[in-house]
Amino acid sequence: MPYPKFPESCHSALCRHLSPELYDSLKGRRTRYGYTLDQLIRSGIENPDSSIGVYAGDEESYTLFAPLLDPIIREYHHFDPETERHRSDMDPSHLKIENPDPDNRFILSTRIRVGRNLHCFPLGPNLARRERLIVKCMVSDTLRELSGDLAGRYYPLVGMDEATKTRLIEDHFLFKEGDRFLESAGLNRDWPEGRGIFHNNDKTFLVWVNEEDQLRIISMEAGGDIRRVFTRLSRAVGELQKRLTFAFDERLGYLTSCPTNLGTAMRASVHIRLPRLAKSMDRFREICDRHELQIRGVHGEHSESEGGVFDISNRRRLGITEVEAVRQMSQGITELIEEETKLSES
Ligand code: ADP
Ligand code: ARG
Repeated sequence: MPYPKFPESCHSALCRHLSPELYDSLKGRRTRYGYTLDQLIRSGIENPDSSIGVYAGDEESYTLFAPLLDPIIREYHHFDPETERHRSDMDPSHLKIENPDPDNRFILSTRIRVGRNLHCFPLGPNLARRERLIVKCMVSDTLRELSGDLAGRYYPLVGMDEATKTRLIEDHFLFKEGDRFLESAGLNRDWPEGRGIFHNNDKTFLVWVNEEDQLRIISMEAGGDIRRVFTRLSRAVGELQKRLTFAFDERLGYLTSCPTNLGTAMRASVHIRLPRLAKSMDRFREICDRHELQIRGVHGEHSESEGGVFDISNRRRLGITEVEAVRQMSQGITELIEEETKLSES
């Protein structure tokens, strides 16, 4: 393929960082699992409205294509992959925060997820059909061993009736289908085979299998007890870590298919009702930017807010520990609530 043409309107990290010279110097490279530059950038080429536009196919993609990926990582996470090293801390006793909304006036629910991939396989965009099925078996067998409040059942997407699926998606438990960014990255191949969701009885602990990452480990519940949600997640991840080896790099932390998820691979969010701030978006964005928070809509990424309800989460995931990311989110939420309260009194 020759150097791709990006439309004028394209502002993705890919189009800003991929020069014709860089393209030429990387185009002949191939990882040991056979992943190429054209595969790495396909999603950003086919979707010029991407914000990032690249997906790694395996651990080696992050070193072999570092001249393109490092600047993207540096820009997104404010972390220098050449000189810095990621640090992890998932110990809930280090997280000293209070519930920012003890009277349940603003926060509807809290959700914290981490992405994980198995060390001995390529990442999703480059995973063969047979490998994906092996991953599914390894993960679902492991999940079956969990006990107490983490015990639950794995529900394969194959054979799940439409009504159940729609309900799980609308209730924010299950991933949506047909994401065009993932489609172009090859992450939807052989859909729905090998995909599924595990959850405990209360749906407070869930695991998505073989979506954007091989595992998305999720803790969620109604209300704003962020610390409790984090504590459950930390315990669940600890249990899984005893039984599975996850792809991890000293420099980049947990390895994920999208570079925005590296490091902690964690997104800690609340669904929060802020109808007054919704009418002062400049002020809203200013507070979120200062706390490095991201605003999403109520049905997740690429969705809109409804009824003044937003999904607010940490934006950075690499070069920050899990505890720091959750603390940062909680502090930002506290300020948003103060501002919303002020606006309602004025
Ligand atoms: P990810 O968290 O993996 O980045 P999405 O942004 O697509 O993915 O969100 C996945 C699902 O989780 C969506 O249905 C979204 O509405 C839901 N969700 C995210 N945060 C919360 C929250 N705090 N409470 C309830 N549901 C949430
Ligand atoms: N590839 C998409 C883009 O560049 C999503 C990037 C971040 N989100 C994600 N789910 N990985 O816009």
